[in-house]
Amino acid sequence: MKRTTITDTLTYVEPDSMGGFSSCAGIMVRSKGKIFIDMNLGPKDTPELLDREKPDAAIITHYHLDHSAWTRYAADHSQARILIPEKEEPYLISLDFIIDHTAGPLGMADQWADFVANSLGYRPLSAYEKYSEKTAFHELAPEMVVLETPGHSPGHSSFYFPDEKILFSGDVGLDRFGPWYGWADCDIKKMVESLLRLDGLRVDLILTSHGGAIRKEGAFLGCIRHILEREESIFNRLDKGMNQTDIIRQGVFYPHKEKVPEPMTSFLTMWDTAMFHHHETLIKEGGLMRFFPEIRGLAAQG
Ligand SMILES: [Fe+2]
Repeated sequence: MKRTTITDTLTYVEPDSMGGFSSCAGIMVRSKGKIFIDMNLGPKDTPELLDREKPDAAIITHYHLDHSAWTRYAADHSQARILIPEKEEPYLISLDFIIDHTAGPLGMADQWADFVANSLGYRPLSAYEKYSEKTAFHELAPEMVVLETPGHSPGHSSFYFPDEKILFSGDVGLDRFGPWYGWADCDIKKMVESLLRLDGLRVDLILTSHGGAIRKEGAFLGCIRHILEREESIFNRLDKGMNQTDIIRQGVFYPHKEKVPEPMTSFLTMWDTAMFHHHETLIKEGGLMRFFPEIRGLAAQG
């Protein structure tokens, strides 16, 4: 793992590898109490760090397994209170619920359930607390503000440190690949609302889950530009008479799906199918700009 001291109270922790959709970068907050957020570094590093640091709280930004699987280590290797987004409680206590709201509707229930349980290590949570935007972390970190930033998942949340103008953004899409919305429970319109909200914050440094620490001016608008470009690309391909199967095979988020071994090829196709459907629905409704006239011109800025 790589630990980077950001301030006296914030440390950014990145895993050695992000392969296999199984890990992400997180932060350590040393305030009135010690908090880990999204510390999903893998089966060796997370337990070691928990043993060494003994956090008071273990928080996740959202239920996706590459962010949440470490909560089982938190239960075994620390006394930390586990805090989860209020809106995502059902996902975290039931494997069936996850499957029914992710791969199930896309026809991949069995393969995904096997991967989630056996490769990603899903275990239903039994002892946990729920947080929302109304939660104030008086005893742990009173300076930390929760911002609900849904879209990537229904209850996705970001953590803002206004005094230092630092944001832990979770998975809003600030990496070179752009925003991801490959499950049926993702929502492009909510995602754009969240990105516009984040763009309005005073932020000097963004700590991301998969894209490092960035100081990029206009980063959130860049995410919206990614979405607009995908919409335009799908619109143009449909306009040329391409069918859904060929567009998905060519790629919405994932080109070259055939280059990875199974079951990954099937998973990437599943996610591209869901992303295609989100765009198709939005195109039928008149396109993203119809709902967000303020983003007009973003695509042209390149
Ligand atoms: Fe995610």
